[in-house]
Amino acid sequence: MTYALPNNLSSYWLPFTPNKAFKAAPRFITGAAGQFYFTSDGRKIRDGFSGMWCSILGHCHPKISEAVNAQVRKLDYSPAFNFAIPETFDLATRIAAQFPAGLEHVFFTNSGSEAVDTALKMALTYHRARGEASRVRFIGRVNGYHGVGFGGISVGGMPNNRKFFGLALPGVDHLPFPYDARSDSFTKGEVDRDPSIYLQELESLVTLHDSSTIAAVIVEPVIGSAGVFIPPRGYLQKLREITQRHGILLILDEVITGFGRLGAANGASYFGVTPDLCTMAKGINNAVVPMGAVIASQNIYDTILDSSRSGIEFFHGYTYSAHPLAVAAGLATQSILAEDEVYARANALAPFFQEAMHSLKGEPYVTDIRNLGLAGGLTLAPHPDGPGTRGYALFLAAYERGLAIRSNGDTIAIAPILISERQDIEDIIEHVRRSLRSLG
Ligand SMILES: Cc1ncc(COP(=O)(O)O)c(C=O)c1O
Repeated sequence: MTYALPNNLSSYWLPFTPNKAFKAAPRFITGAAGQFYFTSDGRKIRDGFSGMWCSILGHCHPKISEAVNAQVRKLDYSPAFNFAIPETFDLATRIAAQFPAGLEHVFFTNSGSEAVDTALKMALTYHRARGEASRVRFIGRVNGYHGVGFGGISVGGMPNNRKFFGLALPGVDHLPFPYDARSDSFTKGEVDRDPSIYLQELESLVTLHDSSTIAAVIVEPVIGSAGVFIPPRGYLQKLREITQRHGILLILDEVITGFGRLGAANGASYFGVTPDLCTMAKGINNAVVPMGAVIASQNIYDTILDSSRSGIEFFHGYTYSAHPLAVAAGLATQSILAEDEVYARANALAPFFQEAMHSLKGEPYVTDIRNLGLAGGLTLAPHPDGPGTRGYALFLAAYERGLAIRSNGDTIAIAPILISERQDIEDIIEHVRRSLRSLG
């Protein structure tokens, strides 16, 4: 299909993109179906990254497109405050049913970043409601990614996302990165070793600040955006035990791990840990309309609601929270996930994906490979021109060969669509292999 290309590339400022390089050699996506994008120059690009971890059922799924079309003809928008559409309650119920018992109440946002800021605000509101307003400190983790709001970059631990933006939230500490490239490289799945060394810092922070000042710890169950790093076996369980002992809330940021990426409904279920709050976004409605959410424990919900005799209990929300089109896409997505047993399917494919990923060991510049479920990460030896150069070069080489993947610095993330077949995985990995071999 031909497409009228814009003659002015100046006005649009692209996010998280080298704008000058992009505008010198733009990549225009003009359509998509299933596992493929179509480009303005008539090429077919395999999606090896599920959009950005989010198009978990592939692109333009007819049932989701139809649901959104039907909704936009029926009701385009209704106010998010003091009104609701009936369907939103059904979507919340279906989401809550997928999380461990005790996590019961869903608050909708429009993105993962908003979900993170919402969860942090819920934690503060909860402690204040129960008479511990002194609990205002947060603890994140080195290399964590929690979106781009000021809350998210404060608890996040990726230097470039923080260093340009001043001091952000005060009173935030970070746990160490729970991965040691010297000993953990090329591990398949979870590393088998004692996670305590990575959690001693939490006990030290409790000693330093006193638990009465700490509101919450937030971590991703599997570190996603920094390049797919899997904490050692037992890490999350131990983190849960320590936080509980000190009355500190545990927030799991499930923006990537929610809705099947690990071959289970979410990271909490996969690791058998019940946090107090979980954030989610990405796969919630197959990314057809922006949507995120936070699920809160019964205790947090009751405490916040009971603290207010009348009126608004939680002074927070967005004009587009639970937007009718996002809800319609969400219900359609959740039906497909259940009817097609997508989590079980992803779980069944995971061992094949693991072997395929690790078959890249020995290819040029590959210094590490990691995987869990249908999430895979590669680390490349840095190019003499500087960190990130080789990772970006691989991203470009893969695109030239017809594959979309994601680079962050010199790490590469691969995230197949959850309903992939073995052939799709083989195709992604062979593209990556050929792209690696083409690097100078
Ligand atoms: C764990 C995690 N949290 C939060 C976010 C931010 O989500 P969004 O880009 O929708 O704001 C992301 C995005 O990749 C993420 O991976």
